[in-house]
Amino acid sequence: MNPIPYGKQFISQQDIDEVVKVLKSEYLTQGPKIAEFEKIFANYIGVKYAVAVANGTAALHLAAMSMNVKKGEKVLTTPITFAASANCVLYCGGNVEFADIDKENYNISFEKIESKLQHSAEKFVGIIPVDLAGFPVNMEKIKQIAEKYGLWVIEDACHAAGGYFVDSKGVKQNCGNCAYSDVAVFSFHPVKHIATGEGGMITTNNEKIYKKLLLLRTHGITKDETLLTENHGGWYYEMQELGYNYRLTDIQAALGICQLSRADENLAKRRKIAAKYDKELKNVVLRISPFNEGHAYHLYIIQAKDRKNLYNHLRKNNIFAQVHYIPVHLMPYYQANLQTRLGMFPESENYYQHCLSLPMYPTLTDSEQDFVIETIKNFEK
Ligand SMILES: Cc1ncc(COP(=O)(O)O)c(C=O)c1O
Repeated sequence: MNPIPYGKQFISQQDIDEVVKVLKSEYLTQGPKIAEFEKIFANYIGVKYAVAVANGTAALHLAAMSMNVKKGEKVLTTPITFAASANCVLYCGGNVEFADIDKENYNISFEKIESKLQHSAEKFVGIIPVDLAGFPVNMEKIKQIAEKYGLWVIEDACHAAGGYFVDSKGVKQNCGNCAYSDVAVFSFHPVKHIATGEGGMITTNNEKIYKKLLLLRTHGITKDETLLTENHGGWYYEMQELGYNYRLTDIQAALGICQLSRADENLAKRRKIAAKYDKELKNVVLRISPFNEGHAYHLYIIQAKDRKNLYNHLRKNNIFAQVHYIPVHLMPYYQANLQTRLGMFPESENYYQHCLSLPMYPTLTDSEQDFVIETIKNFEK
């Protein structure tokens, strides 16, 4: 059996052909493929605006900048996420605090958010919920809390392209559609739903935020005549904000467009793989993945009694399961600079002791999945 990773991209001949077309064209970057990708992606998610950027971390950074995070301002997120969800606040000089996870679905807990907000002497300015593994956060509930406490909301939907939750009116709300948030972010790292090597997207329904993001993505520079404070001629541009070069290339955008055309088909495959794990492992491991009809299954996370030895046993069998995530508050940087400590977020820490992400990607074959399941059963019996 070939090595079986926890996630991997699928590149079709059509993907390759589309990339080669761009390589032979006039523009490798700053060309027409970017706007085309943004339009198709916005349409897929059901949001007004999308801004393509270099990666999900850049997306988070610009999203935080677009919320005007200032020095010392406090923002709340979950400890169970990739560090970038929290780091983006620090990039802007803000302060990060964490609220523990909900033990049922592993996303940030609404109760813990409320108790944090009620008991804090200093005001929080924003919140960054994360759709962990693709399990959709109920953004309507987040919005209710955010309105009560005057917070902005960035949804980290890096795991959740194609996922949705059903709101109180019975309407399906796609992850990252910003119906209940200010901005949302996605990543196109190879293990994600859409792979462009590196890549990311920011979505919003707010025109002002959209324009700011466009500016920040490219050094804060504009050539738009309606925005210039002076005009010296055709060459003239102005740097109006301190931005970055966070652009995606046309090569990547072409790949993204082609990948997106298979997104629904791939999501259906992910859900089928999840259903088989659910069925086969429900009486075998401590806990199978929490279920939600709108789950996007970037990851399939189980809880295992003896996670370390199961992880090692799988590796010996060429199955490369992974751990998502080591809680951010336990990272040495956070402990040293934000005074976070073991014991602060017991649900997150308990989750971390047992979590394991099993192979989950659209090209995982039946026989490979059967092998993963059998190998787990052999260990657990
Ligand atoms: C939840 C989450 N947010 C943000 C990111 C950052 O995305 P990127 O790797 O594209 O910078 C990741 C990456 O894995 C992630 O898992």
